[in-house]
Amino acid sequence: MARAAVQFGCTECGYSAGRWFGKCPGCNAFGSLVEETLATTASTASKPLLRLVDVAADEADRISTGVPELDRVLGGGLVPASLVLVGGEPGVGKSTLLLMALGAISSAGRRALLVTGEESTAQVKLRAARLGGSDNVEILAETELDAVCATLEKERPAVCVIDSVQTLYSQELGSAPGSVGQVREAAGRLLRVAKENGVATILVGHVTKDGAVAGPRVLEHLVDCVLQFEGDRYHAHRVLRAVKNRFGSTNELGVFEMTGEGLVGVPNPSELFGKSEAGEIGAAVACALEGTRPILLEIQSLVAPTDLAMPRRVATGVDPKRLAMIVAVCSRHAGLALGAADVFVNVAGGLRIDEPGADLAIALAIASAARNVPVRDGAVAFGEIGLTGRLRPATQSERRLEECAKLGVRLAVVPTGTPSRSKLHVAESETLRDALRAGLAGATEPASSQNPRK
Ligand SMILES: Nc1ncnc2c1ncn2[C@@H]1O[C@H](COP(=O)(O)OP(=O)(O)OP(=O)(O)O)[C@@H](O)[C@H]1O
Ligand SMILES: [Mg+2]
Repeated sequence: MARAAVQFGCTECGYSAGRWFGKCPGCNAFGSLVEETLATTASTASKPLLRLVDVAADEADRISTGVPELDRVLGGGLVPASLVLVGGEPGVGKSTLLLMALGAISSAGRRALLVTGEESTAQVKLRAARLGGSDNVEILAETELDAVCATLEKERPAVCVIDSVQTLYSQELGSAPGSVGQVREAAGRLLRVAKENGVATILVGHVTKDGAVAGPRVLEHLVDCVLQFEGDRYHAHRVLRAVKNRFGSTNELGVFEMTGEGLVGVPNPSELFGKSEAGEIGAAVACALEGTRPILLEIQSLVAPTDLAMPRRVATGVDPKRLAMIVAVCSRHAGLALGAADVFVNVAGGLRIDEPGADLAIALAIASAARNVPVRDGAVAFGEIGLTGRLRPATQSERRLEECAKLGVRLAVVPTGTPSRSKLHVAESETLRDALRAGLAGATEPASSQNPRK
C-alpha cells in the first residue's frame, strides 16, 4: 500500500517526521522542519540474489596511501570504493595530510583527484610546492554536488578527496551549504558514486566546538570509516585516531609531527612522550594502550596550596571525572592530604588518555607532587584504581611490559596479578598505598616514611 510520499525533515539535526512540528522533537530548534518530497520508487521488480561465495572480492587489495601512520589507522590502507570521513579542528593539518597521501598515491601510478571547495587551485599549488611530490595529483575546484558527482562518474579516479564536505551544495535542496540537509545529501550521493564507480572517497569534515563532526553524527553512520585528526595547534604533534572502521581495528593511533615540509610520521611515540627527567617532582610515566599499540606517556602533576573553598582539579588530556575520582581515592585510601590543594594534571605532548590503565601513573604523579618526592628513576606504572583503593590489573599487560622493556624501563609498578613473563623488574602491589610506596623514590626508607595518616 502506497503511503503519502511527503515527509518533514529538520534542517538542523536530520530528524524526520510524517507531520510538521513548530519545534523539532529531535533538537528542539524552532521552525527548522521543512517539507521533503520523497521520490516514489516505482520499480518493484525483484533482484536476483547472490551467494557470498560467488561475490568477486576484489576489495581485498588495499591502496597504500604512502603515509605509513595513515595506513595503519585505516587498517592497512584504503579499501577501494570505500568512503572515509576525516574530521578535525580548523588548521590541524587535514588538507596537508590528505595532499601528501594523494601525492604518494599518484606517484604509485593511480589516479588521485582533489576536489577543493575551500581553497583555490593556486592555494593548493602553493601547499603542494611546499610539500613536494604531488605533481601528478589532479585537481578540481568545484562546490556543486552534481558537477562533482558527474566528474567522478566520468573520470573514475582510484582515490578522491573532497575538501571539505561542508562546502558542497546541491541546488535541489534550498538550504545553505554546510547545513545538515546539504551535508547528508552530499555524503549520500557521494557514497553511491563511490560504490558504483570504485572510487575510494575521503571526505574532510569540520568539527564543531565540542569535537563532534559537524552535521550531527549523520555522516558517521553513512561512511565506512571515521578518522579524527586531533592535536593542539600550539603543539607540533598531531594524533590521528580511527573512531569507526568497517575494515580494521578502531582506536588505532597514528602520531605525526607538523613541520615545514608537511606532516612527518612519528613511528615510535614512546621515545618522544615517555621521557621524563630523572628526579623531577610531579612527573610519572604511564604505559597506556592506544588501540593495539602501547605508548609510554609522561604525566605531569602540580599540587599547590589554595584558599579556595572548592579546590580546583584541572585535567588536560585526562577525563576530569576520572581525575576527581583518583584524587578522592588518593586522599581517602593513600593518606594524601589534597583537601586544601589545587591539583593540575597534564599529559605530555598534548595527547589524550582515556583508558583506566593510566590511573596508577596519574596517582603516582599526584603523590610525587604532593609529597615532594620524585618517582623512582626509570619507573613506569600502569593499572586501574578501584574506589576501594585496591588495584586491578590493566588489560594486555604483556604487551605493555614488552614496550617498557624495549625502551629500557628499569621498574614497572603494577597491580598484583598482572601476568608477566618479562625480565623487567616488576613491583606488584595490592593497594594504591603500597603502589605509591613502591613507585616513589626513597619512600621505603624509614626516614621518609613520614606519612603515617590512616
Ligand atoms: N610553512 C609552514 N611550516 C610549518 N607548518 C606549517 C607551515 N604552513 C602551514 N603549516 C601548518 O599547517 C597547518 C594548516 O594545515 P592545513 O591547511 O592542512 O589544515 P586544515 O586542517 O586543512 O585546516 P582547515 O580546516 O582550515 O582547512 C597550520 O596550522 C600550520 O600548523
Ligand atoms: Mg583544509
